[in-house]
Amino acid sequence: MAEKINVLLSEEEVDARIKAIGEQISKDYEGKQIHLICVLKGGTFFMCELAKRITVPVSMDFMAVSSYGSDTKSSGVVKIVKDLDEAIQGKDVLVVEDIVDSGRTLSYLLEMLRDRKPASMKLCTLLDKPDRRIIDVPVDYTGFQIPDEFVVGYGLDYDQRYRNLPYIGIVSFE
Ligand code: IMP
Ligand code: MG
Repeated sequence: MAEKINVLLSEEEVDARIKAIGEQISKDYEGKQIHLICVLKGGTFFMCELAKRITVPVSMDFMAVSSYGSDTKSSGVVKIVKDLDEAIQGKDVLVVEDIVDSGRTLSYLLEMLRDRKPASMKLCTLLDKPDRRIIDVPVDYTGFQIPDEFVVGYGLDYDQRYRNLPYIGIVSFE
């Protein structure tokens, strides 16, 4: 089955929005240091671009959870594939995600991280599909709310491909 990708958000739109979020975060965290936690692999492109736009001191760590196979629907199974390298106790943590869809992955992850007693914890996502929410998760910073479509690019994949697209595109199957 061949896929077709139609641009939903252009490279310019995404970059401009990330710059704006970076400025907002820099204001909100004035006088503090932010510990960015990237959820691999989808969050990598967004976190790197966002970090470049943040003007307060930043440290970074990475974790990987699995909730999707090569399918386009959530399995509901969340597994930690790679844990953080450093403790987050007492740190001002900002979790950076590519997309909040059903909310299953994030609600599990945030609960687990909260048990580790960070000084504060907020969530920043590039994309949000509110129509698909099953579990409520509080999102502090959102790049774009998008319709219920399967999207790729800027870190998001379909079957591990298209992560490197510099824009967000909708996948259609023909
Ligand atoms: P959730 O647990 O349903 O909120 O989904 C979380 C994860 O599913 C995201 O972090 C993505 O990795 C993946 N995902 C959800 N929607 C999409 C999409 O439209 N394109 C690519 N990956 C997606
Ligand atoms: Mg993700």
